[in-house]
Amino acid sequence: MRGWIIPPPKGPTKTREEFEQERTAKVRWLVRHGYLKSERIKQALLKVPREDFIPRLYRDYAYLEVPLPLPGEHATISCPHSYPLFYEPLGLDEGHRFLEVGLGSGYGTAVARQVVGPGGVVVSVEIDPVTLEFARRNLEKAGYHDLILVKGDGGLGYPEQSPYDRIAVTAACIEIPPPLIEQLRIGGRLIAPVLEGDTQNLTLLEKGGQAIQRQVVCEVLYVSLRGIYGS
Ligand SMILES: C[S@@+](CC[C@H](N)C(=O)[O-])C[C@H]1O[C@@H](n2cnc3c(N)ncnc32)[C@H](O)[C@@H]1O
Repeated sequence: MRGWIIPPPKGPTKTREEFEQERTAKVRWLVRHGYLKSERIKQALLKVPREDFIPRLYRDYAYLEVPLPLPGEHATISCPHSYPLFYEPLGLDEGHRFLEVGLGSGYGTAVARQVVGPGGVVVSVEIDPVTLEFARRNLEKAGYHDLILVKGDGGLGYPEQSPYDRIAVTAACIEIPPPLIEQLRIGGRLIAPVLEGDTQNLTLLEKGGQAIQRQVVCEVLYVSLRGIYGS
């Protein structure tokens, strides 16, 4: 993973209680550093045990601010601050229909499920079959049985469940895939890392009735989007 120093693999040693303490401390840290403001997102991050979405040999590093490798090609679980970094500007909230492009470990999907609650819908598309199966197992073990997990090129979206209130693309693209903008409802928001030269800008798009507004949130470093709209 370019630009990140990944700690070496090792057998897990931490107990449930230790992970729980780390999770609470991480949520406090996210609030203190201004990443986390929404009470629903905060409760979701406190609820979902991130360590259960990480391969055994990296599990002890669950709450470190580094992405960690996952089964499959070029798949990673993003660092902990990435989730409020995406979900806060999106304004992800109760009742939303949410599409995620890049399921990875399934952790972000579980957090989104907690945020949107039973009145919302969560769809996640993953291109890598090995990564998809890893996430599916994690989510089932964690008790999430009402997610729509799709194998395919997420750049094409998933029109069957559209329109979406919110879309998050968790891999870097050259341009925001047009099918995703089409599948966003009027008034909806999409967030994605977009390549500009050597820089990836986390870009927030809002689809108005007449015009589309874009703004850059910050610089980020993500794995590349694969598929038709790949970088
Ligand atoms: C940074 S990881 C996602 C992290 C994930 N949100 C999590 O919580 O673990 C990016 C993921 O996007 C997937 N991906 C890349 N291109 C894709 C595409 N065109 N469609 C769907 N998934 C894609 C990768 O296989 C990888 O699993």
